[in-house]
Amino acid sequence: MISAAPAQQMQGEALAARIEVLAQFSSEPDALTRLTLTPAHRDAADLVVGWMAQAGMDVHIDALATVVGRYEGTDPAGKTLLIGSHIDTVRNAGKYDGNFGVIAAIAAVDRLNRESTKLPFAIEILAYGDEEGVRYPSTLTGSRAVAGTFEQAALDDKDADGVSRREALARFGIDPAYAATQARDPARVLAYVEVHIEQGPVLEAQGFPVGIVTAINGATRGAITVTGRSGHAGTQPMSMRSDALTAAAEMILAIERIGRSTRGLVATVGRIETPRGAVNIVPGAVAMSLDVRSPSDDERREAVERIETEIAAIAARRGVSAKFACSHDMPAAPCDASLMDALEQSFLHLGFTPYRLASGAGHDAMSFRGRIPIAMIFARCKAGVSHNPAEYASPGDMEAATAVLYDFIRMLSRER
Ligand code: GLV
Ligand code: MN
Ligand code: MN
Repeated sequence: MISAAPAQQMQGEALAARIEVLAQFSSEPDALTRLTLTPAHRDAADLVVGWMAQAGMDVHIDALATVVGRYEGTDPAGKTLLIGSHIDTVRNAGKYDGNFGVIAAIAAVDRLNRESTKLPFAIEILAYGDEEGVRYPSTLTGSRAVAGTFEQAALDDKDADGVSRREALARFGIDPAYAATQARDPARVLAYVEVHIEQGPVLEAQGFPVGIVTAINGATRGAITVTGRSGHAGTQPMSMRSDALTAAAEMILAIERIGRSTRGLVATVGRIETPRGAVNIVPGAVAMSLDVRSPSDDERREAVERIETEIAAIAARRGVSAKFACSHDMPAAPCDASLMDALEQSFLHLGFTPYRLASGAGHDAMSFRGRIPIAMIFARCKAGVSHNPAEYASPGDMEAATAVLYDFIRMLSRER
């Protein structure tokens, strides 16, 4: 737990202890799986409520299940600094993705509180619960609501069991009627800051514990459905089949080829299902996911078009039909130039090299693109492994990122 002694407050071991505590909230006994709006998410949110309250914050859970902790400033008319990250996870996740950013933000505010430091602006910590987009087709609903771009249609999204987001929010204990009312007025917000594990190999390769994010790659996600004709696996000659799964296999390889064809572009099929499939049935239908990302929005959109053209051609050749339904399209999000410069000052002040790098992973920060200036601080990630239980950031590196956040907040308070 975070120690009471001021000198101990941001020590890496204390941050690592909280990572372990939070990681205990899972829907699976042998893995960390905390999908949005599940009982494990609710329990984790309640824990975070307690941590924020201990750090001197007024806390509530908003209409999209974001835990919001507010640390008032000296000036009631002052602006608010938003600091966020997420506490939902992928299936069989690492412990640091998202969770570390929330823990770091609380530790920084805890230190301000213990020092009885009030700033000319308020701080709001936002612990979102819908960053991974694993349970529902739409994602980032928590941060989009705060940014003012939440779309009501997301409430009607359904999970694999047919449970709508609206219903899941109600089960979580929330009235989703207020979802669209969470938006902050950009004129009242100083900036949005997010601390996160890098989830890639760059900082480790360069030998730096922390880095300054320059931009977050854009992403397109959606579902590809392939429809063929199911049939008897024993009687149907190979030449007479409309096998949706073999067509999908060829499509997946084409998607990989397109992903490899452009530097910086990545394209992934992460999930595939043969509904009502069986050992003795020629597959008649396939549902699979698509995720395409790039630092260049033009290259990403062009790649998605090429994928659509390619899957149509494969489908035609194989006597099946295929369609892509986009569920998420986020342009690349540049970080704010003056905030990057301010972060650079904090890095230098603390003796770190102000190394700058782009983010291949998506983050809630993207939701604020074009509305509120964003800044991100990365902590080094072991071997670049993420979305994997082996994900790891050392206590020392987490301490470094948290110290940068604290210093950055103090610097903003001197400047504004
Ligand atoms: C979130 O982790 C994403 O980038 O998919
Ligand atoms: Mn994340
Ligand atoms: Mn993630």
